Amino acid sequence: MIILGIETSCDETAAAVIEGGRRVLSNIIASQTELHSPFGGVVPEIAARGHIEAIRYIVDSALDEATVNLSDIDGYAVANGPGLAGALLVGMNYGKALAYANKKPLVGVQHIEGHVCANYLDSGLEPPFLCLVVSGGHTIILGVDDYDSYRIIGSTRDDAAGEAFDKVGRLLGLPFPGGPEIDKLARTGQPDAYTFPRAKVDGFDFSFSGLKTAARDVVGRVEKDAVLPDIAASFQQAVVDVLVGKTIKACEDLGYTQVALAGGVACNHGLRIAMQDTCNAKGLPLFMPKPIYCTDNAAMIASRGYFAIAGGRADGLELNAFPQKMT
Ligand code: KG4
Ligand code: ZN
Repeated sequence: MIILGIETSCDETAAAVIEGGRRVLSNIIASQTELHSPFGGVVPEIAARGHIEAIRYIVDSALDEATVNLSDIDGYAVANGPGLAGALLVGMNYGKALAYANKKPLVGVQHIEGHVCANYLDSGLEPPFLCLVVSGGHTIILGVDDYDSYRIIGSTRDDAAGEAFDKVGRLLGLPFPGGPEIDKLARTGQPDAYTFPRAKVDGFDFSFSGLKTAARDVVGRVEKDAVLPDIAASFQQAVVDVLVGKTIKACEDLGYTQVALAGGVACNHGLRIAMQDTCNAKGLPLFMPKPIYCTDNAAMIASRGYFAIAGGRADGLELNAFPQKMT
């Protein structure tokens, strides 16, 4: 079964064609980073308008690169939330029109479940497993018990991990988004140079808002340019320690035997290395998507859609966008 996926929930216009839920035939992503970077964050109206301009070219490119025609597509998967409402509507309505015109099934895909499914791309992972999803809007531990079953085990009580990276990046005067910039700087810094708090939250929940305040204190105290890599490395280490610690504890307490990572922050080198080392030490197989499948993309949406359609689900043309976060 060949699925065309569309993703426009934030500032990436993306389309992908995948076969059998796992084999990527094409994965096209147009980033709007340059449009938003003067504002230090994503501007919803600019994002929606940018998607309208790009969507047709991006979908056509995905079909071309996969060397398929619309007649080869067996179903359509569109991200319909969470995200920016205006942005979501562009991709969702484009997918609806294609499904209607070509008389093929359409499914709305929950963006966070899509991130999880990035772990199925070019991989043999099968549920059950535990997945840490760390993105710009979410930090959430999910128990994935089947292809259609996602159970929230823990989530952030305030900022998402990616949001903390981006806010601290701004404090350090780095370009938006701060996550990849801090990751780069951290490679040459000392992770124990500064003390950042590891928030103690009950159960498997997280809290990252205190890190921002701690970073502001550190930046105020020191000559920041001289020690930027050390601040970045110390901050990153604090985030990574908590993410790895809680995920592994949840895995052990709940009896899962495989771990997966997902979301933009899963590109982070410090996180990937620490999670791999800990999983190796515990004898737990770890799955991490390639970085291009960690940040927003449509291959992950197509994969989630494949498993929904294969399970018999089809949404009607009344499908709507839902902006609210997964809680
Ligand atoms: O999953 P994603 O592409 O979009 C959302 O669904 O939010 O995640 C974007 C987030 C941003 O906060 C960005 O700073 C962060 O992922 N990010 C990183 C890295 N690459 C992207 N954070 C830390 N280290 C990275 N290498
Ligand atoms: Zn995302």
